[in-house]
Formats: sequence, structure tokens, C-alpha cells
Amino acid sequence: MSGLPIADRSTVRQATRELIGRDRRAVGVVLGLQSAAAIVGLASPWLLGRIVDEVSGGAQASTVDRLAIAIAICVVAQMLLTRYAQFVGHRFGERSVARLREQFVQRTLDLPISAVERAGTGDLATRSSVDVTAVGTAVRDVLPIMVIATAQLLLLCGAVFVLHPLLGLAALVGLPTIYAVSRWYLRRAGPAYLAEGAAAAQLTETLTATAEGARTVEALGLSDQRVEHGTERISQLWSRRRATLALRSVLFPAVEASYALPIAAALLLGGFFLDRGLVTLGEVVAAALYLQQSIDPLDRLLQYMEPTQRGIASFARVLGVGQVPPQPRGGEAPPIGRDLVMRGVRFSYAAGHDVLHGIDLDVNPGERLAVVGPSGAGKSTLARLLAGLDEPRTGVVSLGGYPVTDLDPALRRRQIALVTQEHHVFIGSVRDNLAFAAPDASDDQMREALQTVGAAWYDELPDGLDTELGDGARELGAADAQLLALARIVLADPHTLILDEATAALDPTTARRTERALAAVLTGRTVIAIAHRLNTAHDADRVAVMENGRITELGRHDDLVRRGGAYAALWHSWHAAH
Ligand SMILES: Nc1ncnc2c1ncn2[C@@H]1O[C@H](COP(=O)(O)OP(=O)(O)OP(=O)(O)O)[C@@H](O)[C@H]1O
Ligand SMILES: [Mg+2]
Repeated sequence: MSGLPIADRSTVRQATRELIGRDRRAVGVVLGLQSAAAIVGLASPWLLGRIVDEVSGGAQASTVDRLAIAIAICVVAQMLLTRYAQFVGHRFGERSVARLREQFVQRTLDLPISAVERAGTGDLATRSSVDVTAVGTAVRDVLPIMVIATAQLLLLCGAVFVLHPLLGLAALVGLPTIYAVSRWYLRRAGPAYLAEGAAAAQLTETLTATAEGARTVEALGLSDQRVEHGTERISQLWSRRRATLALRSVLFPAVEASYALPIAAALLLGGFFLDRGLVTLGEVVAAALYLQQSIDPLDRLLQYMEPTQRGIASFARVLGVGQVPPQPRGGEAPPIGRDLVMRGVRFSYAAGHDVLHGIDLDVNPGERLAVVGPSGAGKSTLARLLAGLDEPRTGVVSLGGYPVTDLDPALRRRQIALVTQEHHVFIGSVRDNLAFAAPDASDDQMREALQTVGAAWYDELPDGLDTELGDGARELGAADAQLLALARIVLADPHTLILDEATAALDPTTARRTERALAAVLTGRTVIAIAHRLNTAHDADRVAVMENGRITELGRHDDLVRRGGAYAALWHSWHAAH
């Protein structure tokens, strides 16, 4: 199983730039307001330093009062500016997240089914839940905080330098340790978080597979095996999480210790310079306060380094979904003939285990071909390949000389339709349910299609085409849903129909009714019918017998019966029983 691709660093960087670039105004406003807030914030320690100097110089109480009021005004102004910046920042974040989600949905819908199946649905499920959420958090909450904290930190350090360059040097003593530890951390964090993400995806995959196949698991007594498998995946995730935790447990203590260093250095150096009259007491106090204040943004930077890493790793996985080569969309409609041809087709669901072993088949336009054979012979697989839903491992399935899997899905559906026992009623109106087969069909055409297939239930609907169907609204029974599916086919009007035991699951009366409806749909089209009732084969132009992934007999009913092979045996036993 090969996972979906993961975007590389430059793609992530480019996408981040685009994300910010699309909302340049909002980002500019946030940055401007936050810088203003930070600059106003710088005033308080400086004013406090002034108070110290004034007091030690024997100043009057009124001067001190004035300075104190100035401090109060600065604090209020800073608060207001910050709040408004946060407001604008959050709106930017929400907009960006919404855009990201929309893009992701679009990319997911464009994915070729084969790519999702190769990667495992768990991978896509994790990316669309865990990863999209992580990117959302990073953009909405983390990114603004990181930007603001960086700006504050730079301003605070700058302020200390402005007070006195020598005090500024003191501010820097903690940085080498922080830099070294952060670098050490960042080098390891990327791969570690990617590994954690992959382990989480595998766990989801295992759990989903077990839940989806619960009946099979029960029937075959595989529960112990599945539990063991799950436990293994859990312990794998646990060890990956432990690895990232180990990284954090080095980073945080080392960094905490480094915070105290600059303040201590500033006070020591400050005392030394003060003795020599190089600085005033107020300047030393202000410098110490600035450094004390810088702990807060520094702390936030480091604290959010992890979600940032996580966000970047997730973003790479989210962007990776868009890097799967999309289903080729035949830009201009290719010239399409109607002859459906298979050449040397082999196919496997699981690597190394072919279920079709080299199939050659020519279906002539307008012909009725019946496919018969024992269960597990590969008939349904053949049907999916002919309909272009799966791609052959080797060989080619072509329609009018054009590989069916290369056709734009929307275009393909209007040429070849596969009818199975599974039919889905989508939540929405009858019109919605029909429209996706033929978006440009008129109401009259829809009603006519329902009539063609004999969907009598339609006449009883209270709101006609506007009646809501599906969960919680009007529920259709299996046979009625089948008729809805057939009406869709009438609207899509494909020239080729593939029927895979379309009526096998219905009770005899409804099956007969549905078959009548089918007969109305089949006229004038190429039909490939997979059937267990051999009267279908008897009435067909040709019959193909499938056994063990091969076509073993192919010809007219009479000829095959005369030949006395597998089909003749099947026919005689079926004929005797009916
Ligand atoms: N989704 C799948 N994943 C893995 N193996 C599959 C899948 N679908 C079918 N197979 C296997 O491929 C082989 C052919 O199955 P297929 O469903 O094509 O047979 P069939 O002739 O349609 O059988 P039936 O008459 O029971 O419908 C079988 O061995 C089956 O177990
Ligand atoms: Mg089948």
C-alpha cells in the first residue's frame, strides 16, 4: 500500500505565501496594530525607569504622578490596540481556514478512485480530519501568535539596545543556548511529527477496516487477529508519540533555564556600569523590566513551535492530496466510437494476486452479451473494468480506441453505465437525485424518464420533483430506489449498459417489474449482462463464460450448447431445474 504523496518544503512555503498573499490587507492591518501595541508597551518600563531616576534625583510628587498617569494611559492603549488586532487576526484565520477546507474538498473530489484505494481510505480520512484541523489551528491561532511574538521580541531587544548598547549585549546571553536547543529540536521534530501522523493514519485505517468488516471478522473468527493488529498499531503510535514527547522534554527545560540568564546578566553588568556612571539606575531598571517582559513572547514562540511543526507537517500532508495526478480530463471530447475492447487485461485487488488473467474481449456496438460463470470467477470485476471504474494492472480497456479510464468521469458516465444491486438515494429532492446524471435535463424530461421506467411511486409524491428523499424524509424501498437509478440512466442516455445482477436481490414480483423497466431502458443500446438466470444468456446475441478470471467460452448460445462444454453443462442443469 503506497500512501498519498506528501508535499515538499518549498511547496508548503509557496502555499503559505499564497494563503497570506490572498488576504494581504488583513495581514497588514494586524501587523500594523500589533506593532503599534508593542511600541506603546515599550513605554511603560521606560517611564518606570524615569520615575526611578526622578525619585533618586529628588523629584516632586507631581512629576511622579504625571509619569504614573502616562503609564496608565499606555497600558489602556496597548490593550485596546491588541484586542482589535486579535479581532482582525481571527477573522483572517477563519477566512483562510474556510478557503483551505474548500480547496481540500475540491482536491479530494478530483482524486482518482484508484489512488485512494492504493493509499487506503484511512490515509485520506486522517488527512481530511486530523490534518485539516491541525492546519486550521495553525493558521487561525498559531500563525498570528508567532508573528506577534516575534515582533514583540525584536522590539523589546531593540529597546534594551537603545537604552544602552552594553545592556543590549546582556540581553543576548541567553540566545545561544535557546538557538542551539531549538535547532536541535527543529531538525528532529519534522520527521518525528510526520512519523506520528503516519502512525495515526495507520491506526485509523486498521480501526475503520475492522469496523467496516465486522461481520466478516465475526464470521471467520478473526477477532483475535484484528485485536492484535489494532494493539500493534496502538503501540506503534504510542512509541511515535513518545519520541516527539522526548524531544519536547529536552527543549522546554533547557529553554526555561535560558530565560533567567539575560536578566541576571543585565543586573550584573548594570550594577558594574552604574558604579562607573555609564548608565543611570532608571536605565538598568528599565532594561531589566524589558528583559522580564521579553520572556512572555519568547515563551509563546517556543510553546507554539510544536503546533507550528505539527501544522507544517499536516499542511504538507493536506497539500500532498493535490499532488496526485488528477483523473485526466479529456479537454476536448475525444472522438468516441462505440466499440468496447479489452486487450490482455490483468487486474488485481491485492498486489501479487491477479483475479483477471489476460482477458481479450470485443463487444460490438448494439450487441447483447451475456456473461455467466461461477461465483468468484471475476464477473463483477470485469464489469467494473469495462465501466472504467478500475484501471487494469496491465492491458487496456478502450472505447472507440480511447482508454476508458482516461475519459472525464462525467463524460464517461454518459457513454457507459454500470447498473448493480447497489443504488444510492442521496439526501435531497427527487430532482437533485436525477440531476447529477444529467445536469441539463428539464423537469419534463425527468418526469418522462420516471415514467419510462414505470416508477409508479412518483405519482404519489406530495411535491413531485421537489419531494425530499433520504434519511428523515421520504424513504424509498430497494425496488423503488432501483427504479430511480434506472431513471438516472435514461436521462444520462449512455450507449452502453453493463448490468451486474441488477435484479438478483429483489423478490420475484418486483424483479419482474424491474426487468420490464430495464427492458424499456435497454432498447437501442449495447448491453453486457451478468446473469445467473440463463434465460438472459439464451436471449443474448453472444455468451461469455468466465471461470477463474478467464473467458473460457465465447459464442452464440446454440453453438455453445452444441459444442458440449462448460456452458452446455450449465444450460442443461439450469434448464432441467426451470
Ligand atoms: N474489493 C475486493 N477486494 C479484494 N478482492 C476482491 C474484491 N472484490 C472481489 N474480489 C475477489 O476477486 C475475485 C473475483 O470477484 P468478483 O466479485 O469479480 O467475482 P464474481 O464473478 O462477480 O462473483 P459473484 O458471482 O459471486 O458476484 C474473487 O476472488 C473475489 O474474492
Ligand atoms: Mg459479482
